[in-house]
Amino acid sequence: MKTNDILINSNRGSNKLAILGGSPVISNLMRPSAPPPYVDDKMVEAIVKTTKSGIWCRIQSATGTVATFEKEYANLIGTKHCVTTGAGTQALSACVEALGIGAGDEVITSPYSDIGTLSAVLFSRALPVFADLDRESFQLDPADVERRITENTKAIMPVHIAGNPANLEKIMAIARKHNIKVIEDACQAHLTEYQGKKLGTIGDIAGFSFQASKNIACGEGGAVVGNDTELMEKVYTVMNHGTSRKGKHELIGPKYRMNEFEGALLLSQLEGVHERHKRRNENCWYMRGKLRDFPGVVPQKLYEGTGSSSWWLFLNAYRKEHFNNVPRATFLKALSAEGVSAGGYIGSGFHKSEVIKNHILDLGVYKKMYSPARLNKYRDELPCPNCDDVCDELVLSLGVATAPGKEYLDKIYDAIIKVYENRDKLRSL
Ligand SMILES: Cc1ncc(COP(=O)(O)O)c(C=O)c1O
Repeated sequence: MKTNDILINSNRGSNKLAILGGSPVISNLMRPSAPPPYVDDKMVEAIVKTTKSGIWCRIQSATGTVATFEKEYANLIGTKHCVTTGAGTQALSACVEALGIGAGDEVITSPYSDIGTLSAVLFSRALPVFADLDRESFQLDPADVERRITENTKAIMPVHIAGNPANLEKIMAIARKHNIKVIEDACQAHLTEYQGKKLGTIGDIAGFSFQASKNIACGEGGAVVGNDTELMEKVYTVMNHGTSRKGKHELIGPKYRMNEFEGALLLSQLEGVHERHKRRNENCWYMRGKLRDFPGVVPQKLYEGTGSSSWWLFLNAYRKEHFNNVPRATFLKALSAEGVSAGGYIGSGFHKSEVIKNHILDLGVYKKMYSPARLNKYRDELPCPNCDDVCDELVLSLGVATAPGKEYLDKIYDAIIKVYENRDKLRSL
């Protein structure tokens, strides 16, 4: 589509920017409130039933809600095993611990994720090594991952950001070449498909989150999935404060158990999960289609083989050169005034976080576990300039996945184009 077509085809009412006193494209009345977690009567009944049953903890019943959900979730994702936890962070931490990764070892991961990704590595006192991002997909850049491998690298933890697949084909090839494990951080990626398989089935092991904002949710919860029976038994043992199914205290493990109320909530919402997944895909693919020929807002690059996705977020690259070079914050102000739910997502990469400074670089415990030479190299190689640009200027998250329908998505698009048409006025904001 050419710029002229965009001008002709748009339907944007008053063309004066709302932030300058015009009427917004999406009025407050039309705007849906932020989507709450999915709730239906079955879920409420399931909680009541569990409350009355007196079976509240997973160890009270081998056929309770948690054990049953584990079977169902493994089936849904397509792995032999599933072990639930109390959070996605705990799931990833159990993966690291079960793989025997600890002090002296290194895990390469993305600097652009929820803090749970980083916490999972830090808990085991392994060194979290950040590789930089691809600027179009916001996923780990495999070439930078390979550059950062050392003799102590034990795992790569790619994050499927926004629920879309990381470049797993390349990452898996690198991992196999260097004999390194892959822990998929699939915390945002329920039911996402890549090259005909579900995410969570491609690496050696994977972690999911069921925190309240996720597509499958129980407030706080998580799951590890995998096919390696021995490894998954270790995950169970770690999760169960180090005590194996045989009742022996065998490993270092915190208590990461999911409770039966969480199991009941999860189990009872599985029925409609495919329908909700389909709706998110319809919305997001429709919006990607609309934005296809508009160069100012470019949807997240997807790798070949990406199938249906969780679309936990709908991320785009904001191209300021098409908006009179105004910073993203100015564009966001104007777009939000038009009634669009939009933001920048993660404010800053892990490589800039205080915990790295306090515990690894300055006075922290990492000095007891890693040589001065390694920590000096770590400091020198910490910068991730692409991630900085992604955080500071590039990423634009739009409230698309749960939008109430195509008409509403058309309005989001119209609002973007309205701001574009008024780009000469943005500098004054
Ligand atoms: C990519 C990613 N990793 C890890 C986590 C941590 O999961 P949880 O919040 O359930 O501990 C999240 C949660 O949002 C996430 O999005």
